[in-house]
Amino acid sequence: MEALQSLLEMKAWSKKIHDQDLKIGFVPTMGALHEGHLSLVQQSKARCDRTVVSIFVNPLQFGPQEDLEHYPQNLEKDFELLKKEAVDVVFVPKPKEMYPEGFQTMVELSQLSQSLCGKSRPASSGESNRPTHFQGVATVVLKLFNVVSPDQAFFGNKDFQQRVMMDRLVKDLHLDIEIVACPIVREKDGLAMSSRNVYLSFEERQRAAVLYRALQHGKKLFWAGERQSSKIIAQVTEMIDKENPKHIDYVCMCDAETLEEVFEIHKPVLLAVAVHFGKARLIDNMLLYGDH
Ligand code: PAJ
Repeated sequence: MEALQSLLEMKAWSKKIHDQDLKIGFVPTMGALHEGHLSLVQQSKARCDRTVVSIFVNPLQFGPQEDLEHYPQNLEKDFELLKKEAVDVVFVPKPKEMYPEGFQTMVELSQLSQSLCGKSRPASSGESNRPTHFQGVATVVLKLFNVVSPDQAFFGNKDFQQRVMMDRLVKDLHLDIEIVACPIVREKDGLAMSSRNVYLSFEERQRAAVLYRALQHGKKLFWAGERQSSKIIAQVTEMIDKENPKHIDYVCMCDAETLEEVFEIHKPVLLAVAVHFGKARLIDNMLLYGDH
């Protein structure tokens, strides 16, 4: 496994691989790796000739009140995990090279970035030139795509909105990159794996498992024939509320492609939640579909 830092080295490596007519799979991450990340790596290994994983805690996508300073980091352990997966390259760019002085180009998805987490993770109102969370995400991913030149890129459905945005980004900008959506990997009690789960105290961790149970309850209501979003949202919210979260950012039913809010369900729909337990802001979602 090679570890690369400079953008030039990374570009040169990718060119060498493409010159041999081999396919590059790419898994962008912010590190603090867990089974969720590794499932993406395994998908890439299965589909592509070479696999690149990037580790970059992207300052551009954190709001001023968010956890950039405390975001969990453990490069040594990450490297060990990636070695075990036989990854070809770990790409760890430096913030100064990614965002040199004078950097100002932002990528914006005008509609997809507005719903769900776009509402609850806006730019700071006092700083008009600060990027929103999703501008930060789209910008860094496009930059990474340009440096790594992957044939396929792997994104988890845990960050469903992010994944849908990536589908749109490659279409809109004519990038020859296939976005591969990967299923959510969960702990035994259903909690979606996340680097941020380490913020939870033992007790918060127990309570946070309600998110999965509440989503499953929503799905059961849907299967039982409920088609009014408001009814499902009310019951899901009530269930989560009983576990005393610090704050519920949203419980939302939306179209799985446009992410627009859905009030009456006529086709597959996404039930998505964002909830704060202690210091952790957790997100999760489930697709509701079928006639059961
Ligand atoms: P990060 O939170 O590190 O996640 C990297 C990738 O792992 C994302 O595609 C995310 O959806 C996926 N992932 C995380 N937890 C998962 C789980 N439990 N099951 C399946 N996949 C999971 O998402 C980011 O980093 C950043 O926004 C990034 C795309 C790297 C841009 O900075």
